[in-house]
Amino acid sequence: MNITLKNLFIALLTLPIVACSPSPKVQSHPERVYWADITLKTSPEVTNELLSHGKNLYDNNCTKCQGVTGRGDGITLETIIVPPRDFALGQFKLRSTDGFPTDYDLFRTITVGFPQYDMPEFGHLSQEERWALVHYVKTLIKSAAPQLSQVPGKSVKLPNAKPYTQASIDLGKVHFNKMGCAYCHGSNGIANTAITLKDAQGNPIKPRNFQDGPEYFKGGGRPEDIVRILMTGMAGTPMQPYGRIGADNQELWDIAHYVHSLANTPKKETK
Ligand code: HEC
Repeated sequence: MNITLKNLFIALLTLPIVACSPSPKVQSHPERVYWADITLKTSPEVTNELLSHGKNLYDNNCTKCQGVTGRGDGITLETIIVPPRDFALGQFKLRSTDGFPTDYDLFRTITVGFPQYDMPEFGHLSQEERWALVHYVKTLIKSAAPQLSQVPGKSVKLPNAKPYTQASIDLGKVHFNKMGCAYCHGSNGIANTAITLKDAQGNPIKPRNFQDGPEYFKGGGRPEDIVRILMTGMAGTPMQPYGRIGADNQELWDIAHYVHSLANTPKKETK
């Protein structure tokens, strides 16, 4: 009888522990402003004055990497991890569309830059100055690739959000492995650096190492940012868009939850 009571007591003690076992939480990283969160006013009118202001800013801040005409030839591969984009290709990694980016997309990228790479952020410039840069960059694209349409692609609409739960993370893991993400990103999110990948300019490129942390994702490290990247892909890189999967694309949320959970795994636990 005593033993039974003791067991009951232990069972009662452990019950709340089981009931309170931590449910996953979307980790936030307030130290970094994500691409999608940049608040911006509409562009000022594109005048010759705005464009010449943009040219001055570009000449002072951008030519040493992007090159005078925007062909990405201002700096050599030996001196930089990832060489700058050749604007003539019209391929931009961060977009809210399935094709050419909107002016807002370009504004956001100029504002946040690419963390961990050499593309600096220019959030310290005024909105007017960043708009001047956007429009001047578009004139460079026009000169380098006159045939390229600069009409933005179709706006990408995220599927309805799904709650961040362990069940969704587990489902995401299944899709992640089935869809071949692990080939490049590693089944534990540590990028596979043994494979050779090239970008559209023929330069070597590495898959993102998720375990560096979500704050380093170029497009942002929250599930919604990852879903958007999965839908748009990163143009000019081996990171392809993953179109519709499943009936309502909810699987993209599962995958994004899994990627987010890998990115938030404390590094010491995975060693
Ligand atoms: C053929 C290799 C390859 C495959 C397969 C692949 N990726 Fe990638 N992925 C890349 C590369 C390369 C990058 C880095 C691109 C860059 O930063 O310029 C990347 C970047 C990413 C990023 C970072 C985005 C950011 O904002 O920086 C995420 C998230 C991602 N991939 C998720 C996935 C998922 C999920 C899958 C499977 C559905 C997948 N990838 C399949 C090569 C791949």
